[in-house]
Amino acid sequence: MLEHDVLIVGSGLAGMRAALEVAEDPSIDVAILTKVHPLRSHSGAAQGGIAASLGNSSDGDGWELHMYDTVKGGDFLVDQDAAEILGREAPENIFELEHMGCAFSRMEDGRIAQRRFGGHSEPRAVYAADRTGHALLTVLFEQLLKKGVKVYSEWYALDLIVRDNTCQGLIAYDILTGQIEAVQAKAVMFATGGYGRTFRITTNAFASTGDGVVMAYRAGIPLQDMEFVQFHPTGLQGSGILLSEAARGEGAHLVNADGKRFMEDYAAGAMELAPRDIVARAEQTEVDNGRGVTAKGDSVFMDLRPIGEERIRYALPSVMHLARDFAGLDPLVEPIPIQPTAHYSMGGIPCDIDGQVRLKDQDNTPITGFYAAGECSCVSVHGANRLGTNSLLEAVVFGRRTGKNIREHVKDLDPTRITEGEMQPAIDEVNRFLQGEGSENVGAIRSDLRDVMMEKCGVFREQGALQECLSTVKDLQARFAKARIDDRTTTFNTDLLDAIEVGHMLEFSEVIVSGALNRQESRGGHARRDFATRDDDNWYKHTLAYREADGPRLTYSEVNMSPRHRAAYPPEERKY
Ligand code: FUM
Repeated sequence: MLEHDVLIVGSGLAGMRAALEVAEDPSIDVAILTKVHPLRSHSGAAQGGIAASLGNSSDGDGWELHMYDTVKGGDFLVDQDAAEILGREAPENIFELEHMGCAFSRMEDGRIAQRRFGGHSEPRAVYAADRTGHALLTVLFEQLLKKGVKVYSEWYALDLIVRDNTCQGLIAYDILTGQIEAVQAKAVMFATGGYGRTFRITTNAFASTGDGVVMAYRAGIPLQDMEFVQFHPTGLQGSGILLSEAARGEGAHLVNADGKRFMEDYAAGAMELAPRDIVARAEQTEVDNGRGVTAKGDSVFMDLRPIGEERIRYALPSVMHLARDFAGLDPLVEPIPIQPTAHYSMGGIPCDIDGQVRLKDQDNTPITGFYAAGECSCVSVHGANRLGTNSLLEAVVFGRRTGKNIREHVKDLDPTRITEGEMQPAIDEVNRFLQGEGSENVGAIRSDLRDVMMEKCGVFREQGALQECLSTVKDLQARFAKARIDDRTTTFNTDLLDAIEVGHMLEFSEVIVSGALNRQESRGGHARRDFATRDDDNWYKHTLAYREADGPRLTYSEVNMSPRHRAAYPPEERKY
């Protein structure tokens, strides 16, 4: 049995930022538990920037405009108390990160440089070339080492223990030794990242398998707005590797097989810098109408050449190298084939603006001692579609707030106790694979899942395809019940971890598809061909999915329209 005052699961930006905040009080014992080394966390893959209305490259920016852009970008499903905080607290968070040592790119006069991103009406992205996530992650990790925060690196969280709406701690697996341990903590915070790996084409790391989301779901907490998955418009054709939106921010064009900048037909005002849901749909429409490029016709071109070689080398070195290394072409002289790629999970574990996980029932019941921030959470600051550069920002703003909340209240929480009986389901799950005699291959199940999710629950959706998708997911769940793994050892058994992750993917994918099937409208990242418009009369509400024996039970809850310092932005037509 391990014990800490505070246990943070996940070592990306949200988790590390929270840990630093808790560690401000040296009398609190805080630890991080993570399935990858902290510097391999998926936050490091974020390229183009982190938003803040510093106004360094424009005259008219401010937090209210940032808030408005975020609400409109999210197709008005955004909770406006959260969007207000995101906009208001962004600048101080950036300066704090700068003072920690983050080497942001600069303007000639030495101030922090800012560039445009889609859906932002001002140049608001603060960046470190196109390696912003990496720059932030390394700086936060340095601070973590300085503070001496204990890190359980390459430990896998198996189960969250919640009893009587109070979190007791976690059951975890040491990947090096195969040891299963109960970790008791008065406060557990999830910062476990997103769930994009369930799609064939994705920017997401292998680790983005929705583990935290599923652990919360299994512990009786509803999942919110899971049907809203963002497809980033510029994934490298075939693999989906991220080519930063910063490329379009710097002036790259999107062109179809006729050589036309097709965005003029979809968002003539914003062109390539419309929000991602709009650009991804435009690309898919061009492809579906036979105007795609390459032999497969499944992509369009992104042309970097209008930016010019010198600026590409300075501001977009990763984009240039990724195209060279993974597509074998030189973007200085030819365009890059790109396609929509699953990128970001808008849905997740419902929580309030201080990271407190809540059931969102009539009493808005808190789960005492359980917190969440970052991509696994749904404070609903992104609504139905996140704006680029708002995710790194969400991670630091709400990571910091959650850490502060925990620091201020953990001493009031009662000590917890995990019973042997509560450990048993996790032990049984591991033993099922290490000792079981199943016949189904885990890799084949995962592959079939990723194909069906991509084909039938992707950029465009419709009833028949979603029904087929749901029935395939259920078939795959039945196959998974008979799954087997070949490696029966206990040292770095990645076969075992793969199997557990596939179990998670099957569980949350059912929630995504069920939510998508039920929501008979198009909003943000959820585009129904059979219900092509937004329907505020019937669907201006959040989805909540509760786990039941025969699948998710869906209910709905109100969108928060109560910012503290200004009137709310009511839904309006979204034009760009
Ligand atoms: O395109 C990008 O650089 C990704 C940024 C983001 O998702 O915020």
